[in-house]
Amino acid sequence: MKVGAPHGRELFLPNPLRKPVQNLAPTRRSYTRPDMSQNEAKRLAAEKAIEYVEDGMIVGVGTGSTVAFFIDALARIKHRIAGAVSSSDQSTERLRAHGIEVMELNNTGDLALYVDGADECDPHKRLIKGGGAALTREKIIAEASRKFVCIIDPIKQVPVLGRFPLPVEVIPMARSLAARQILALTGGQPVWRDGVVTDNGNVIIDVHGLSIVDPVAMERELSQIPGVVSVGLFARRPADVVIVGGEPPVVL
Ligand code: 5RP
Repeated sequence: MKVGAPHGRELFLPNPLRKPVQNLAPTRRSYTRPDMSQNEAKRLAAEKAIEYVEDGMIVGVGTGSTVAFFIDALARIKHRIAGAVSSSDQSTERLRAHGIEVMELNNTGDLALYVDGADECDPHKRLIKGGGAALTREKIIAEASRKFVCIIDPIKQVPVLGRFPLPVEVIPMARSLAARQILALTGGQPVWRDGVVTDNGNVIIDVHGLSIVDPVAMERELSQIPGVVSVGLFARRPADVVIVGGEPPVVL
């Protein structure tokens, strides 16, 4: 079943000579270079999200530049919270640098609150995530959280998901197989994010040229490909609240 309308033409070209660089920290691809006002919108969204933090909470924390603002804001009220569960090594490092205790999800149980950014958000609060390659742990924490507050700048709002290449985390030996199946299933163009290894030791395939009219179906279909660890669609479990940074921030 095709669940996305194809726009891409080029085929995925697996190159066996190009190997992922091990131990390389995941980096965010620069999709659009944020200018000052986009950064300011991210900061304003992050500051607004602090209003959702209650005394004694263990806060689930996502990954990315918007979340970095949230972590910095969280540091101001760190005496009020019990700690944080982190979705990436990058966020863990920033949380610890601020003296915020980072806890294991296995020890905390479900969380009351998860705050994370997104690469795209549609009017139903369904998201594309994974620009920072942290999608698997982000998805786990989102699932474990009763309230998912997504913080974005206005550029992330789209009528239909797919303008941002859809990240898919894949076990390395399944990279080519998964790419062929993604192409067959969606018609989108799978591109290996060469040089990026996730915190889980896997690789990322970015699927270009999609117009995702049924994100729930696409999330389900792609998740079934052997070797696929996580699909960067957060549709089955969308955000509960979306804060769009601005003056003032808009809460959806
Ligand atoms: C990381 C993510 C991020 O939330 C997403 O890439 C948004 O990043 P930024 O806040 O830097 O724009 O999904 O895997």
